[in-house]
Amino acid sequence: MSRIFFDNASTTPIDEQVVEVMTAAMREQYGNPSSIHAEGRRARAAIEQARKTVAHHLGASIGEIFFTSGGTESSNMVLKGAVRDLGVRRIISSRIEHHCVLHSVEALERHADIHVEWVQLDEKGRVDLAHLAHLLKTGTEKTLVSLMHANNEIGTMIDLTVVGNLCREHGALFHSDTVQTVGYFPFDLAQLPIDFITGSAHKFYGPKGTGFVFINGDCPLPPFMDGGGQERNMRGGTENTYGILGLAKALDLAYTHYYERRAHTESLRNYLRERIEQEFPHTIPYGDPGGGHYKLLNIGFPPSPRTDMLLLNLDIAGVSVSGGSACTSGADAGSHVVDALGGKPGWKAVRFSLSHRNTREEVDVVIEKLRTCLS
Ligand SMILES: Cc1ncc(COP(=O)(O)O)c(C=O)c1O
Repeated sequence: MSRIFFDNASTTPIDEQVVEVMTAAMREQYGNPSSIHAEGRRARAAIEQARKTVAHHLGASIGEIFFTSGGTESSNMVLKGAVRDLGVRRIISSRIEHHCVLHSVEALERHADIHVEWVQLDEKGRVDLAHLAHLLKTGTEKTLVSLMHANNEIGTMIDLTVVGNLCREHGALFHSDTVQTVGYFPFDLAQLPIDFITGSAHKFYGPKGTGFVFINGDCPLPPFMDGGGQERNMRGGTENTYGILGLAKALDLAYTHYYERRAHTESLRNYLRERIEQEFPHTIPYGDPGGGHYKLLNIGFPPSPRTDMLLLNLDIAGVSVSGGSACTSGADAGSHVVDALGGKPGWKAVRFSLSHRNTREEVDVVIEKLRTCLS
């Protein structure tokens, strides 16, 4: 049997229709989008059409979408730009953010004149809104709140409207890392009280190395990358035409098939949860299984020599899952998210992240493989 990929929060396989769009663009859209001749104008028109598609699906205006190399760059751009040029002197964030936010915040704390406050979370990773309100009330400096929409390891979510309204009430800027939710949940950015969100094509069946940042029209950031003035002067450098076209196609497919994809993925996630509860009653769920992202299930397995080797043995058995977020070294470094929420020592967190391409039969096989690996 072919391998089973239950690691769709780390990345997703590219959609065949996206490959077709990108391949055609590689052949035909070779003009430099900044050139004024016909080839250049064609590439420029294709990029602007892609921007229109992204803006349309997210309820933004086209002037608010900027293409980048992905979620990491987009969050770096917002956090560092807000401190450098929007007068932000305090950042409120959480200990379970993705490293692109956590490490940016920590770097700013070391090198810039800002201070950081960490909002309290409950054991499921849910933001303590009373604490957030208290923090917002007490500071006098210009503040940016950065809280992710859905956690990439445990799936716990925030309500963007509730958090955004709190920020508005206290004059704070609001950034949310929405990398795990763009393409998976509807957005109406014209109505949401939010200043910045980020997206990454490879999380929704698009190409790696391509993403975007939404910057609310009321909150312009100055150039992040100095150069030829591309992306309306926000990000110098010749545009990644095929990546951008691939991103737009992938997002279009994600929202065109939103209901079917969601229903299928959610029912698989629920089925997997039921089967794990039946077969492995001594496990514990991490995160907010009732209210989290429908593609994610994070399960703690009790300590034993078998659990130590679980990820490796599942891999050998043909099943791809992960322990924490995918990290650059490729090593299983555990999970800073589970640790921050008081995970019990020795327990092994296994993140299963599902896709509309997975099947119930695959879930059944994964349960069998888990049984073999643990017995
Ligand atoms: C929540 C979250 N934010 C940011 C990123 C980084 O995105 P990218 O890989 O496009 O830099 C990821 C991907 O791992 C993620 O899951």
